[in-house]
Amino acid sequence: MKREEAYQEIIQLRRELEEHNYRYYVLAQPTISDFEFDMKLRNLEELEKEFPEYADSHSPTQRVGSDISKAFEQVAHRYPMLSLSNTYSEGELRDFDNRVRKLIGQDYTYVCELKFDGSSISLLYEQGKLRRAVTRGDGVKGDDVTVNIRTIRSIPLVLRGHDYPEVFEIRGEILLPFRVFEELNMEREESGELLFANPRNAAAGTLKMLNPAVVASRKLDACFYSVMGDRLPSDGHFETLNKAAEWGFKISREMQLCQNLDMVFNYIRKWDQERHKLPVATDGVVIKVDSRRLQEELGYTAKSPRWAVAFKFKAESATTVLRSVSYQVGRTGAVTPVANFDPVLIAGTVVKRASLHNADFIKNLDLHLNDTVFVEKGGEIIPKITAVETGKRHPMAQPVVFIEKCPECGTPLVRKEGEAVHYCPDDSGCPPQIRGEMEHFVNRRAMDIDGLGAETIELLYTRGLAKGIADLYLLEKDQLAALERMGEKSAQRILEGLEASKSVPFERVLFALGIRYVGETVARKLAKVVHSIENLAQKTKEELMEIDEVGERIAESIVEYFSRPEHLEMIRFLKSKGLQFQLSEEQSGNRTDKLKGLSILISGTFKNHTREELKELIERHGGKNATSVSKKTNYLLAGENMGPIKLEKADKLGIAIISEEEFVRMITE
Ligand code: IVH
Repeated sequence: MKREEAYQEIIQLRRELEEHNYRYYVLAQPTISDFEFDMKLRNLEELEKEFPEYADSHSPTQRVGSDISKAFEQVAHRYPMLSLSNTYSEGELRDFDNRVRKLIGQDYTYVCELKFDGSSISLLYEQGKLRRAVTRGDGVKGDDVTVNIRTIRSIPLVLRGHDYPEVFEIRGEILLPFRVFEELNMEREESGELLFANPRNAAAGTLKMLNPAVVASRKLDACFYSVMGDRLPSDGHFETLNKAAEWGFKISREMQLCQNLDMVFNYIRKWDQERHKLPVATDGVVIKVDSRRLQEELGYTAKSPRWAVAFKFKAESATTVLRSVSYQVGRTGAVTPVANFDPVLIAGTVVKRASLHNADFIKNLDLHLNDTVFVEKGGEIIPKITAVETGKRHPMAQPVVFIEKCPECGTPLVRKEGEAVHYCPDDSGCPPQIRGEMEHFVNRRAMDIDGLGAETIELLYTRGLAKGIADLYLLEKDQLAALERMGEKSAQRILEGLEASKSVPFERVLFALGIRYVGETVARKLAKVVHSIENLAQKTKEELMEIDEVGERIAESIVEYFSRPEHLEMIRFLKSKGLQFQLSEEQSGNRTDKLKGLSILISGTFKNHTREELKELIERHGGKNATSVSKKTNYLLAGENMGPIKLEKADKLGIAIISEEEFVRMITE
């Protein structure tokens, strides 16, 4: 075949195969047999082999790269991946609607969608081609799992039509249909592998697999619910999603526009019944304000949008008999009571344990041994006891009494005033706390020390080689290599991991220390504001509480942490080993106090910066991001299409309104 002819044929086959993929995986309406499809694919493969100059990574033959990929690279999300606030009753939904109405004060429409219970993903398309796929991760950054996503046939590698934006992101849920989930678990059972608890776990686990060929064999599916970008075809979310369907994406056919709350309630009632007929797991309904302009106006809280809410379906429940209560001690010393009951089948899985949370929970249930209890299992993996059938209780039944001493080290437990949880206070002597502290420290999201997992930590601890975080940096190669199931190579890897951890940025080191209540978000915030561990250690409770996202509980915990000499000693040691206890120059560069004491509210869209960039700039120059117009607001940074209500309110309160240009002048001049 001549080159030119071959090229035409290749192009033609690619087009045809993409079309058949779309018909089969997105529309579920195939027009040719699997055999015919395979023949065409093979034909294309042969041509591409013969004419390698026409290779294209977006060809239908390239869905599964056969190479084993390395661990995934972490990528920052351009727009953070937030979560939704949940509601469980019509009343709560009415409250949500009232808040929306009050904030926007004009007519609006909702879109109701099913809440798919899978693993969320964000796809970036440029010039109509799939460029990157990133998992939710911690919401700020996730894993680049593009190689795996490419194997999912219902996800277009190349878009259809021409009217898609040049660059956009589309978000949705990666799902494992029930049927495939069951098959998969059956296979696993046969080969003696651990079973997946539910389709969501199976989907999430599959996305993180290192071999794309195995991922391809798992037959994942996807459904998309959100398009983001600067030049979207419509202001309406509903219309944009329908457009996305024309570009080749699978969107939820069950989505519906609702002009009022009654329509929303009808939608919920209908799908609470009918969802059981769907091929994939759903755990509720998502209600969104349709107009993106109004969405912008409503804005976001730290965790979730104010323009959307989830309504969770009621969980399935069953009764069983409580046999015993055991107690687990976590990394922070928190003691969690766990109920052990007769195995019972709920929502398709066998359940025999449930968390009892704390002493109050047990007391409120008035729990006795051998009680008949109601157990519920919702979308969450952990089931819970919701009530006791007291009529069935034996007259001599013994009440469940919370233990007084730590089951691990015997130290008397403490319970702080106003808190529900019992703690073992001996954090430097209680084994699970020390092990937990080390496990948390080496965790991927914290110091990310390669080769050091829970098992090795356990070994190091029991052998007396590491009795705390600091000891990890004193480990020697032969000590490590002498451990069971460890060789020279693994030992070397751990040492290299420890060495590499010395360049982990301050915010993650801060998180890794495991200060109670200082999670990733708070650690990031603290690092940005205080710049160094010394500054943090010197702050008073009141000063800490002035920082965004730091409440009384967190502030107290930080002060208490730095009041302990052993913690200061450990930090001094880690610092001497080269760990980062301050922001890098790059991170702290360009910081000024130009906006110190000023509270600025951003509204609308801007020419030269995204809203996130502006927020960052405000913080970098010492200012505070306001979340609503109030007397405390100093400036309203107004962009295009900003909400008329905000403008009016700002006007009334006499708040200065500044443009993007004026703002830039404020921080540069
Ligand atoms: S919209 C700002 N729509 O639920 C958040 N989310 O709790 C916008 N989810 O992480 C999300 N179905 O993974 C949206 N129709 C739907 C959804 C949906 C499932 C998941 C999503 C998100 C989580 C939020």
